[in-house]
Amino acid sequence: MSESLAHESPVSNRRSFLLQGAAVGAGAIGATLLTEESARAMADTGALTSGDAAILRFLAALEILETDLWQQYNELAGIQDSEVPGGHGNPAFAAAIAVLDSDMAQYIHDNTEDEFTHFTFLNAYLEAKGERPANLDRFKTLPSSRATGARRVGRLTNLMRLSVDTSWWTRYRSPTKNPDLGDTFPQAIPDLAAGEFPGIPRSDADLTPKKHLQAIANTAGFHFAMIEQGGTSLYPQLAQRVSSPEVLRILLSIGPTETMHFQTWQDKAGNAPPLTDPTNGLTFPDLNAAPFGGQLFQTNLIMPEPTAFLRRKFPPCSIIRPTNTEGAANGARRFLTKTGLFRGQSAEFHATLKRLADAADAARPHH
Ligand SMILES: [Fe+2]
Ligand SMILES: [Fe+2]
Repeated sequence: MSESLAHESPVSNRRSFLLQGAAVGAGAIGATLLTEESARAMADTGALTSGDAAILRFLAALEILETDLWQQYNELAGIQDSEVPGGHGNPAFAAAIAVLDSDMAQYIHDNTEDEFTHFTFLNAYLEAKGERPANLDRFKTLPSSRATGARRVGRLTNLMRLSVDTSWWTRYRSPTKNPDLGDTFPQAIPDLAAGEFPGIPRSDADLTPKKHLQAIANTAGFHFAMIEQGGTSLYPQLAQRVSSPEVLRILLSIGPTETMHFQTWQDKAGNAPPLTDPTNGLTFPDLNAAPFGGQLFQTNLIMPEPTAFLRRKFPPCSIIRPTNTEGAANGARRFLTKTGLFRGQSAEFHATLKRLADAADAARPHH
């Protein structure tokens, strides 16, 4: 018996009991099945609170945006197969990405597939509950990379002018600080957040010189972790304001997969070779040598360092950070905007994303 069926065993037992009874009175069969059908139907049409719907819709929108960016990476540097269709690979870029780990193509593929299932599930659940799903199709207006391997289609996200935030690196290594207590964190790669750099080759002209292409691959490597640490915080942040136990279950089941992605990517980002891009000066310092190195920068310190949680009087605890729930949806929206992911998007796109975030941030739990 599959696990999902095992979970339904109380219903199955009840049905077999009732079916045995029905052997005596055949008319009971129809009534029994009708009852089960109605119970299932009610489970899916029982209304969501407007807050739960808003939280799910905002998460679905962000998952659509995540899918869009991961698809662009997968087309160039992921495994090319029918599970994640589109694109046909860029061997030079894939090789530069593989410098971080020989399994990168598989991980990029699987992360892309996961994001696709996240938004598809969230939207299907919203629709089953009679709610409007998230749909950003009208904003697929940004240009694709012209490099070999990429599709030429309209995109939601811009991976060609990124200002990648790398403060998560030191945030998860700090033994005393927590963003929820007002603390701030230094960048691991100061150049990345300060400028605008491509995370994918914009055209085949970006495939040389070698150090330029490697700098793009390194940028992607840090961007992967930046995106997934965001999801790692966002799900627990919003879970604190849902009303339905089933919606809570959804958030608690998807959120940790973002953390599994983040943990993988932060390990791989530490393998990005130190270098300076000769075309623009973007420097990836040696994080294991002075003035870097030590507790805040050492590349193999990938487990979350125990730190202050809730109040400083409590003992240090190894935790996801931040998890403050107030304004979390708009916090995620502003963060992604600041990192350049939506450069070139229309005012209507930004207004739509803000509306979705405002509705999610207005949600309050009804228990
Ligand atoms: Fe996701
Ligand atoms: Fe994700």
